[in-house]
Amino acid sequence: MSTQKTWTEVDDYFNSQLVPEKDAMNEVLKSNSEAGLPSIDVSAAQGKMLHVLAKIKGAKRILEVGTLGGYSSIWLASALPKDGRLITLEASEKHAQAARRNIENAGLKEKVEILLGPANKTFPSLAEKETDPFDFVFIDADKRNNPSYIKWAIDLSARGACIVVDNVVRNGEVVVKDSQDPDIEGIRDMFDILSNEPRIDSTAIQTVGSKGYDGFLLAVVK
Ligand code: SAH
Ligand code: DHB
Ligand code: MG
Repeated sequence: MSTQKTWTEVDDYFNSQLVPEKDAMNEVLKSNSEAGLPSIDVSAAQGKMLHVLAKIKGAKRILEVGTLGGYSSIWLASALPKDGRLITLEASEKHAQAARRNIENAGLKEKVEILLGPANKTFPSLAEKETDPFDFVFIDADKRNNPSYIKWAIDLSARGACIVVDNVVRNGEVVVKDSQDPDIEGIRDMFDILSNEPRIDSTAIQTVGSKGYDGFLLAVVK
């Protein structure tokens, strides 16, 4: 029988073989826990997957929605070339402060900009200010606003851009049609949008691991 214990052991095994970066990255998690941040960062294996995807894409301009303490931001930004840039949107001043410190410690200060404020407020100003489109987007904030975030992501992306949305399975709750949970409603409304969105090609993959049973959406802008 496959259980949480097994999923964690398998993640630990893969990480010990394939993710040497995890030890430095654990410092970020330690500092986040000391600052009282919730441990809802992506797992090490998922962080490394984002890093690998950004490299496959050759991403130069990454957009992230939901910074927390910068754990996923650092995985992504460390895949950027010298002149690459990551902009990450975060509503909480406390989270942004922790992220700023971690990003600086990781030597990535020059590449990363944190935009503070609810993403529905910062997206419009970003759209006005930023002229170059993004080639990689990671959406991982308040799931109830996923419908709005996926639309902004498509609008601000270049052709061929890769879009990843975290936590689209939520322990299987995504199939609860009449869910009263606004986050599940947000995820389901996003899938409704995607079922009828000609500008991107998408799939969604279920995952198990040290962070339980969840999954991610993977899409490419046509
Ligand atoms: N991507 C991070 C985890 C993000 S957790 C990682 O894997 O390391 C989700 C984050 O979204 C939290 O920090 C939360 O404060 C932020 N958030 C919640 N609502 C938001 C909103 N409306 N706009 C921007 N960020 C928001
Ligand atoms: C939550 C958010 C996340 O981004 C995640 O990966 C896990 C949990 C949450 O808000 O509970
Ligand atoms: Mg997440």
